[in-house]
Amino acid sequence: MTLATLAHLDVQGKKVLLRLDLNVPMAEKVITDDGRIRAALPTVRALLERGAAVIVLAHLGRPDGEVNLEYSLAPVAARLGELLGSPVQMATEVVGAEVSASAEALQVGQVLMLENVRFDAREASKDAAARRELAELWAELGDVYVGDGFGVVHRKQASVTDLPALLPHAAGLLIEAESSVFQRVLTDPSRPYTVVLGGAKVSDKLGVISHLLPRVNTLIIGGGMCYTFLAAQGNGVGNSLCEADQIDTVAGLIAQAQELDVTLLLPRDIVVADSFSADAASKVVSSNEIPDGWMGLDIGPNTRAEFAAAIAGSATVVWNGPMGVFEMSPFAAGTRAVAEAMIANAGLTVVGGGDSAAAVRLLGLDESGFSHISTGGGASLEYLEGKELPGLKALEA
Ligand code: 3PG
Repeated sequence: MTLATLAHLDVQGKKVLLRLDLNVPMAEKVITDDGRIRAALPTVRALLERGAAVIVLAHLGRPDGEVNLEYSLAPVAARLGELLGSPVQMATEVVGAEVSASAEALQVGQVLMLENVRFDAREASKDAAARRELAELWAELGDVYVGDGFGVVHRKQASVTDLPALLPHAAGLLIEAESSVFQRVLTDPSRPYTVVLGGAKVSDKLGVISHLLPRVNTLIIGGGMCYTFLAAQGNGVGNSLCEADQIDTVAGLIAQAQELDVTLLLPRDIVVADSFSADAASKVVSSNEIPDGWMGLDIGPNTRAEFAAAIAGSATVVWNGPMGVFEMSPFAAGTRAVAEAMIANAGLTVVGGGDSAAAVRLLGLDESGFSHISTGGGASLEYLEGKELPGLKALEA
């Protein structure tokens, strides 16, 4: 797939409808991680420098087609303005007379953000005609479309897939960068190539494992999902997370790894706790000796060392999903060890978005130590699963 690129889109003196993924975590209307806003800056700046006026379309959370000011983008517009060093105008609607008037009055060098596009039920409607109707209203506001919301390219939504069909369009710089990294790790990785997967649910990662197994040299499994692997090898896992209905599938993947000569690394030791809490009693046990009544909440010290050594010996490392409950400091060491081993690796090191990217920031690690930290959670997983992403297809040249 060849994306239409920003470099080839004429934006001088034009009003650019720019779709971003500014879906940032918030607590009490305060942004707790502005990574996605910062990741949008290069494209916004490039458009302004090239003489455009920018109309930003974005979503926040899942307000399900209703106006709910809990999910207002106003704090995001304010933060984007701070980072740009000039204020961003905020519309109070998604479409309508006020939006049209503000868009009409917008001057070159200025940025206007529309209210959360998911306040309008047509944005995420399954009915193509409804989505198209909303996209047509937006198309009247501007001259060209730039898609740069990588985190939302797996969604078939009016602002992601219908609007670009109506206007000259291009992918923004973030989507270009994300796509080129994911393309590289799927089709042309330098070897040895190691993928590290974690996170709570193995069922979320089955597609990724199946797609990547024939491509990697080493597959490392940690996090909540490792207990289904340990159970598939016949181990007791106490009260740890375990998806009993996936045990047979996982046993099949273990066999497939062997057939493909892929080194599969599972935890040798586990930090277990007597309850799911930061002040629970905890101890390190061998992974085939998790006691009844205890639950695994992190990988143990021997596993940390083994995973770090495998990462150190790799030319390409892709990581998606924490190794333990990193939000609780007694169970953060495994996730930290994987991240630090990647930072120390001079090869291509890619962090899938979502929880792993959040962990890097929460643990105060040096983001610049990675080659690439994706802004896509679901989108990066679907990319690694080899699925067609409708939001990228819509930006083809
Ligand atoms: C994300 O946070 O992964 C994206 O913004 C997509 O959000 P969604 O899962 O609500 O579509």
